[in-house]
Amino acid sequence: MPFRKKSAAPKKVSVPEKESAPVAAAPTEEEGGNSKNPELLRGFRDIMPEEQGRWNLVRDTVRKLAEAYSFDRIDLPILERADLFLRTLGKGTDVVEKEMYIFTDPSNRSVALRPEATASAARAYINHGMLDRPQPVKLWYLGPMFRHDRPQAGRYRQFYQAGFESFGAEEPIVDAQLVVIGMQIFKDLGLDVKVEINSIGTAECRKAYLAELVAYFRTHRAKLSEDDKRRLQKNPLRILDSKEEATRELLEGAPQILNWLDEKSKEHFMKVLEFVEEMDIPYSLNPYLVRGLDYYTHTVFEFVLAEDQGEVAQSALGGGGRYDGLVEVLGGRPTPACGFALGLERIVRALEAKGINPPEHPAPLVFFAQLGDAARRVGLKLYEEFRRSGIPVAEAFGKNALKAQLEAANRLNVPLTLILGQKEVLDGTIIIRDMESGAQEIVDVKKAVALVARKLQPVVLDKPADL
Ligand code: HAM
Repeated sequence: MPFRKKSAAPKKVSVPEKESAPVAAAPTEEEGGNSKNPELLRGFRDIMPEEQGRWNLVRDTVRKLAEAYSFDRIDLPILERADLFLRTLGKGTDVVEKEMYIFTDPSNRSVALRPEATASAARAYINHGMLDRPQPVKLWYLGPMFRHDRPQAGRYRQFYQAGFESFGAEEPIVDAQLVVIGMQIFKDLGLDVKVEINSIGTAECRKAYLAELVAYFRTHRAKLSEDDKRRLQKNPLRILDSKEEATRELLEGAPQILNWLDEKSKEHFMKVLEFVEEMDIPYSLNPYLVRGLDYYTHTVFEFVLAEDQGEVAQSALGGGGRYDGLVEVLGGRPTPACGFALGLERIVRALEAKGINPPEHPAPLVFFAQLGDAARRVGLKLYEEFRRSGIPVAEAFGKNALKAQLEAANRLNVPLTLILGQKEVLDGTIIIRDMESGAQEIVDVKKAVALVARKLQPVVLDKPADL
């Protein structure tokens, strides 16, 4: 069993504001970085080692829960035929109109860096004949997505999503369980999140609703911004999502989609809400929630921070919904499906705002200091023995002076330091130094691992392995 220091539990430390800047400190093309330095593309960032503790926490939590809910991992390509997204996400959507990284590959094919992965998952479902597997087929993925959007806090051009997709089940309980899974991820991460939920029914009921919506806004056209006028023409549903003050005021008197749902859609939605209530999930019905992609039918939902955290709270940490028509649009047999994806940068940001900062890897418990070449030779082997026994050891093989090595040990705050010099190598011994008291003990080098394990007993959570 691996050794863990008591302090290995997520540490709450406040992190300087600087770290949460939308793009890491490296200069970007449009920010006029020092021309001698290589430049980062705007909206792209390095995830630095010091951030990896939080990222690991999110990745591990997602993986653990995906397994607990019997979702199977799928890794989908980052590059797909552009057509896959053009056919499924919707012509009038921002993602397709403005944000796709589309280019022609050397074989003269139009390809795109995936802006999302639901379309790819549906393609894979068809390509691999997953229709013949026991349904529903439950898949999860984690990886980078690309959208050439305007970068700002929490919005990047390359960002990571973790997604859950369930193919082949139309029962409302499936929608509800996906909401439960998303909420459980946030709960395990220590984030207080609520769900906004709506139903946009089927394409048919939406058609009648849209005619009404367009007629309503036409009578108020003069009050609309140019952007919203364009939306009204190209993708009127998206006007519900408008951030313009004037439009939001008009929306209060606008027809609401929920009143246009057919009986079946209404029944489906009521059942989803019943399940969500049954699970005590904090939710609010948001009649304006339509999501930015066209493939949705029936239930749509978004996860947002419950507590007000200023600008962080403005953006959804994740979202999803039902997309019963997607597989068929791609040429597969009609297959009901539902899923959601989480934005990892935004989640990591929320963790940071809460001061949740787990260590990237277990803190070392022992420092290994060596003096001279012979000690290094023995040291290299001894280091492996400690590593195999599960005791995290740090070293500074690149340093020669004992003083510098002990300083490094102090910085790491290890309880014990091992010191191996020329004399100890000749005697077959090693010095164990208690860093708090400064007491030193010379022991048989062969017994070093067992002795150190015993000394560490009070500082570790787990019982050491049999040594
Ligand atoms: P989406 O709402 O476009 O849905 O993206 C899901 C999440 O990804 C957002 O809630 C947000 O947290 C994050 N996200 C989106 N764009 C950016 C960005 N530019 N920078 C940082 N984070 C971003 C989808 O992509 C659907 N495929 C979700 C889904 C799965 N629906 C059904 N299944």
